Amino acid sequence: MSPRIGATDRFQPPVRIAAEPAACARALAEFVVDVASRAVVARGGFSLAFSGGTTPTLFFQTLRLAPYRNSVEWTRAILFLVDERLVPADNPASNYRLVKENFLDGGPARESAVYRWKTELGTDAALADYEAGLSSLPHAGSDPPELDLLVLGLGPDGHTASLFPGTAPLEETTRWVAAGRAPQPPVDRLTMTYPLINAARHAAFLVNGTEKASLVAQILSGEGKNYPAAAVRPRGGPALWFLDSAAARDLSK
Ligand code: 6PG
Repeated sequence: MSPRIGATDRFQPPVRIAAEPAACARALAEFVVDVASRAVVARGGFSLAFSGGTTPTLFFQTLRLAPYRNSVEWTRAILFLVDERLVPADNPASNYRLVKENFLDGGPARESAVYRWKTELGTDAALADYEAGLSSLPHAGSDPPELDLLVLGLGPDGHTASLFPGTAPLEETTRWVAAGRAPQPPVDRLTMTYPLINAARHAAFLVNGTEKASLVAQILSGEGKNYPAAAVRPRGGPALWFLDSAAARDLSK
């Protein structure tokens, strides 16, 4: 792991580069342990929100194992999903199924620790149910709760969560969740919105592979400020970027 955290980085979102995806997953798992441990000391528990897609699979499988499974009081965890596809929970495209198969099954957290998007209720009821679940966290009035950490991905079009370019959820300034539409199936999505995302104490992008290297470089340099992922500015400070060397390839250019 070659962290690029230095004096010059105080002007740039902090970037943590690891040679390979496995080392990247371990670096993020270490960060999760750090955030969770501090939250337990400070507030008696912690809240995490995981993204789906393909990149986080190795991260989930890493977090499930020692030393990470033993380094966190997982009984004090409340877990959410940053977004979900509008499919049944046992559908291969379900983000809940991804987390269940790669982290919950055989892992340290109770299955009940994850607040699942109840896609079987249909869009409007599922959104209302998720907001009600989020409301169980401390929050002031209509202000969103401060999740301790969001683990985010980056799509090839610069989306994150299910906040796709040119779609309505990008404009949501009040509700904590919204219905999204993806340009490719599964089209119908449920997603956290910027008000909730940016109320978080920490956000960490996990990005691997050369196909996203240019996008990462554009976003981190400030050129790519129009991409949805570039608008993630958590309350606790700049989002962290956990990159393998392939995804970081264009940073020095
Ligand atoms: C989803 C994710 C989405 C994902 C990006 C990157 O539901 O698909 O929440 O935001 O993080 O699309 O996906 P990959 O990791 O598969 O590239």
